[in-house]
Amino acid sequence: MADQHDILKKVISHSKEYGFVFQSSEIYDGLSATYDYGQYGSELKNNIKEFWWKAMVQMHENIVGIDSAIFMHPTVWKASGHVDAFNDPLIDNKDSKKRYRADVLLEEHVAKIEGKIQKDVNKGAKKFGADFDETEFRATNPNVQRRQAQIDDLNKRMEQAFSGDDLEAIRDLIIDMEIKCPVSGTANWTEVRQFNLMFGTELGSVSGESATIYLRPETAQGIFVNYLNVQKTGRMKLPFGVAQIGKAFRNEIVARQFIFRMREFEQMEMQYFIQPGTQKEWYSYWKEARMAWHNALGFGSDNYRFHDHIKLAHYADAACDIEFNFPMGFKELEGIHSRTDFDLNAHQEFSGKNLTYFDPEKNERFVPYVIETSIGLDRVFLAVLAASYKEEELNDGTSRVVLRIPPPLAPIKAAIFPLTKKDGLPDKAREIMRLLQFDHSCQYEEKDSIGKRYRRQDAIGTPFCITVDHETLENDTVTIRERDTMQQERVSISKLPELLGESVGMKKLLNFSTTVSK
Ligand code: GAP
Repeated sequence: MADQHDILKKVISHSKEYGFVFQSSEIYDGLSATYDYGQYGSELKNNIKEFWWKAMVQMHENIVGIDSAIFMHPTVWKASGHVDAFNDPLIDNKDSKKRYRADVLLEEHVAKIEGKIQKDVNKGAKKFGADFDETEFRATNPNVQRRQAQIDDLNKRMEQAFSGDDLEAIRDLIIDMEIKCPVSGTANWTEVRQFNLMFGTELGSVSGESATIYLRPETAQGIFVNYLNVQKTGRMKLPFGVAQIGKAFRNEIVARQFIFRMREFEQMEMQYFIQPGTQKEWYSYWKEARMAWHNALGFGSDNYRFHDHIKLAHYADAACDIEFNFPMGFKELEGIHSRTDFDLNAHQEFSGKNLTYFDPEKNERFVPYVIETSIGLDRVFLAVLAASYKEEELNDGTSRVVLRIPPPLAPIKAAIFPLTKKDGLPDKAREIMRLLQFDHSCQYEEKDSIGKRYRRQDAIGTPFCITVDHETLENDTVTIRERDTMQQERVSISKLPELLGESVGMKKLLNFSTTVSK
C-alpha cells in the first residue's frame, strides 16, 4: 500500500509541475477539496468528455444530450428526496475538534476486525501448509469465530440504526465499540447529527423576499424534469436516453484524496427511459456497455470490477458501482442504477403535471422506468492519469517519466520541432503545424536539444513528435517519433494527416460500441 500511496503523491506533484491540476486559489493558500485544471488538464478533461459524449449520444440513435441549468426550482430537491435525505451522519471528537462521518468510523472498525481475521487465516495457512482448508478454519477457529460474531452483531446493529435513522443508536455503537479519534486518541464524542450535503444560497425575489435555492448535487434531476420536453420535441419512442455533462456540488465532509472527492465536480450522466418490466434486461445491458467503455481505454480489465449494492437506496430495485483500481485501492468510478419510476412519479406528484408517456402501439399511458449511468468526470481523469503515469529506465542508462495516455485522449497530439532555429527550418515546421492543427491540438517547440524536447512531451503524454531537419527541405520528409516505443521513422509530410488521424482520432476508442450496441 505504501508504494501505491507513493504513486498518488507522484501523480499529484506531476499534475502540478506539468500544468494538469492546480490547487484552487493557490496564492491564497488554496481552498480545501477544490481544484483547477491547467492548460493540459483542461485538454485531457475535454477529450474524456468527448469520448463519453460520442460513445453515449453519437453512437446511439436513441440517445440525445441536453445542458440544463445548475439552479433549479427548490421543489425539485424536495421531490427527489435530497432536502430530507441527502445527509451524512457526522460526529465530532471534543478533544481534537475533528469531525468524522459516523458511518465511515464504523465501517473502518469492521474493516479492522476483518484485518485481524485475515491475519489469523494467514497464520493458519503458514502452520498447516498444503493441508490448510480455509473454509474449515474460518468455521472452527475460536478466535475467528469470536471476531466474526462481533462483525455480524455490529452489521446487524448498524443496519437497524441506519435504516431507522436512529442517531442515538449510531452514537451508542461508536461508544460500545470503543472507537477512538485517530488524532486525540480519545473516545470523547459529541452527539451524531445529520448534515445535508447540498449547498444552499439565496435567490432574491422581486417582492424583496428570498427563497433558498440549491447548487445541484447531481445533474440527473435536470434530465428528469425535461424528459417530456425532449420526448415530445424529439418525437422519441421508448426506450430512449437523455445524457448530460455538467457540474455538481456537494458539501463533502471527508473530502480528500486529491480530485477523487471534491466539493465541486463534474458528472456525466445518462437516464435511459424504458417500459416498466424491462428494467432487468436494460440494467444488464448498461452494465456491459459501460464496462466496455472503460475497457476501451486499454488499462487492463483487471483494474475494473463491479460492486453490487446490497443495501439499495429507496428509489432503486438494483444498483452497482464500477470500481477502478486507484492508487488508494479499488474505489467507485461510476454508478449504474435501476431507479424504477421513483423520480418521475415524485415530480408528477410535487409539480401536479402529467408526466406519463403515451405508447401509441399499446394505446396506453404510463410513467416510464429509468436506468441511470452516472460517472464522475474528475474520477475518470484521475484514473487515466494514475494508470498512465510510468517511470521508465531506458537502454542508454537514462530514465524518463512518461504519461502513456490513450492517444485520442492526449492533451497534445503532435509536437513539431525544427532541428535548429535557422536555415528556414522553423518556417517549414510552422507549415506542418498549419497542416495538422485544423484537426489536432499541436505544439511547436524550438528550445533546447531534441532529447530534452522529447522528455517534456513524454511527460505530458504527447503520442507523436515530428522533427524537421535539413533533409525535410530537400524531399519533404520528416522524422516521426512514437511516444511508447520511442521508435523513429522517416515519412513524407503528405502522409502525416492520415497517420495521425488513424492513431489519435476518437474512432479508435469508439469502435468498441459496435460489440454491445442494441
Ligand atoms: N445521479 C446519481 C448520482 O449522483 P452518485 O453515486 O452519488 O450518483 C455518481 O454519484 C458519480 O459521481 C460517482 O460514481 C462518482 O464518480 C462521482 N462523484 C460523486 N461524488 C463525488 C465527489 N464528491 N467528487 C468527485 N466525484 C464524485
